[in-house]
Amino acid sequence: MKKYLIWFGIAMLSLLMIFGIYIYIDHIIHTDDSPTIVKDGKDKTKEEYIYKEDLLLLGYSVDEIKIIENKISNTDVKNYLLEKKYDNLTKFATSPYFKAENIERYESYYTKNNEYSFDNIVIYVEIGLDKEFYTDITEITNHDEIDAIVNKYYKLPSNFTPNDLVSIDAKYKKSNYDYTLRQVAVEPLYSMIDAAKKDGIDLWVVSAYRTESTQTSLFNNSKNKDGLEHALLYSAKPGHSEHQLGLAVDLNLANSKAHFEDSKEYAWLKANSYKFGFIERYPKGKEFITGYGFEPWHYRYLGVELATNVYIDGSTYEEYLIKHSK
Ligand code: DAL
Ligand code: ZN
Repeated sequence: MKKYLIWFGIAMLSLLMIFGIYIYIDHIIHTDDSPTIVKDGKDKTKEEYIYKEDLLLLGYSVDEIKIIENKISNTDVKNYLLEKKYDNLTKFATSPYFKAENIERYESYYTKNNEYSFDNIVIYVEIGLDKEFYTDITEITNHDEIDAIVNKYYKLPSNFTPNDLVSIDAKYKKSNYDYTLRQVAVEPLYSMIDAAKKDGIDLWVVSAYRTESTQTSLFNNSKNKDGLEHALLYSAKPGHSEHQLGLAVDLNLANSKAHFEDSKEYAWLKANSYKFGFIERYPKGKEFITGYGFEPWHYRYLGVELATNVYIDGSTYEEYLIKHSK
C-alpha cells in the first residue's frame, strides 16, 4: 500500500513539473514588449507570434527570436527558416542587405571565409561571390541605362552594340584609330582630359568602345600570349566588357607591366575622375570582388552624381549596387 502511495506521489509531482514547464514556455512565447496591433478592429498580435514556438523548438534563444521577429517577415520565416536552425541567422539578419532566401548561401560562404564580417558576407553573397566567376550568368536588359552593370555574373545580349556611338576627337588620342564612345560619355571625357591638362597632367585614350568580336580577339590574344589565368584577370570574356557597353575608356598605359599606378597621371585620376562622372572600376585590393586585376587605367562612366556617390562610398560598383539597390 505504502509503495502505491509513493508511486502516486511521484506521478503527481511529475504532472506538476510538466504543468510548470508548460506554463513557463507559454509565458516566454507570449511575453513581448511590442504593443498589440489592432487593425480593422481585429487583434493581430496572435498572427505576429505564429512562428515563435517553432523557432524555440528549433533551438533559437528568446533574444534571437526577438531579433528574427524584428528583422524577418513571417512569410520569409515560413518559407526559408523552419527546416533547421542556422547558427548565424541573427547575425546575418542584422545586415540591411539580408535576404532570407539566401541564408544557406551566407552560412556556407561564411564557413569558407570566416575572416569577413557578417555584413560583408551578406554583401559578397548578394554580389554572387560564393559562385565561381562565369558560372551563373544573367543577361542584362538595362544595357541602354547609364548605370548598367556588366561583370563576370552579368552580360550583354549577344552582339549588343550601343546605338549612339560618337568618334573621339583626335585631340584626345595619340593614334589614328577611330575610338568611339557612347555620346553621353564623350563631352565629360573631354572635360576631364582638358581639366587634367590645366593641372599639367597629360591624358589620352588608348581604348574605348569595343565590338564583341574585338573583345573576343583581345581575350584570345591575351590567353595565347600570357596564359588563361592572365587573360581572365585582365580581359573580360566577350559580352562581359564595359568597353562593349560603350561606357569605358582605357587611358595612357593599359598594361599591368607598365606600372601606370606609380604615375602622377594615375594619382590625378584617382582624386578627380569622379568629378567628371568616371570611376576607377578595378581598384587595387578589390580584385576578389571585381574579378579583375588592378587596372589603374580603366575608367567607367556613370554620370557625375552616381560616380561621386560610388567614390564617397569607397566601394566597388558591385558593392555599391547591393548597398543601394531599391
Ligand atoms: N579589361 C577589362 C576588364 C575589359 O576587358 O573589359
Ligand atoms: Zn578597360
